[in-house]
Amino acid sequence: MVGANEAVTENLLCLRPGAATAGDYEGVFAEPAVQRWLRPPPMPPFAAADFERMARRDRAHWDRHGYGPWAVREREGGAFVGRGGLAWATVAGERQVELPWAVSPALQNRGYATEMALAAIETAREAGLHRVVSLALPDNLASRRVMEKAGLQYVAEIEHVGLPHLLFELDLG
Ligand SMILES: CC(C)(COP(=O)(O)OP(=O)(O)OC[C@H]1O[C@@H](n2cnc3c(N)ncnc32)[C@H](O)[C@@H]1OP(=O)(O)O)[C@@H](O)C(=O)NCCC(=O)NCCS
Repeated sequence: MVGANEAVTENLLCLRPGAATAGDYEGVFAEPAVQRWLRPPPMPPFAAADFERMARRDRAHWDRHGYGPWAVREREGGAFVGRGGLAWATVAGERQVELPWAVSPALQNRGYATEMALAAIETAREAGLHRVVSLALPDNLASRRVMEKAGLQYVAEIEHVGLPHLLFELDLG
């Protein structure tokens, strides 16, 4: 059984991060094909301590809001897929709920990020949120395609973490 603001989708279990999540995150975020988009130069590459910090921050997000980033596994077999869900962030100087997504390179292009995004949007609606946003580097075509498939609309090019990013949003009414 999954708890409030966790989700079961066609292929995925979208779960509140737990004690083992830092190691799971490391398996995905340390991959060069993932770092390339989340830690592009001049940002420093992820260091070992970042995974523990990320998992701790995600658990604290849940403690504070009752929802948050998901540690995502395949329903069949339980392989760790990546990180999705909802995350409060400062975007262009405003507090916004962002849809984060990162998928293990071995499991990409199976529709998993889109499945996570759609489940996160559903969770955002249930939580009474009015808007979600997503950001991508302009040349991150896979991420832009996920935004498009999940129904987000282009808003503007903005600076985020010191780099030009495309901002997309979905109005939840
Ligand atoms: C972005 C990411 C999460 C997508 O995960 P995924 O599970 O492969 O996504 P999906 O399978 O749901 O959809 C990917 C779509 O992008 C397309 N795509 C993949 N690589 C592409 C590329 N280089 N150029 C254009 N389209 C591409 C796929 O064909 C697919 O579209 P389709 O269904 O129309 O064929 C994954 O690539 C990833 O983890 N990247 C590194 C981290 C990252 O960039 N996170 C987002 C930061 S904004």
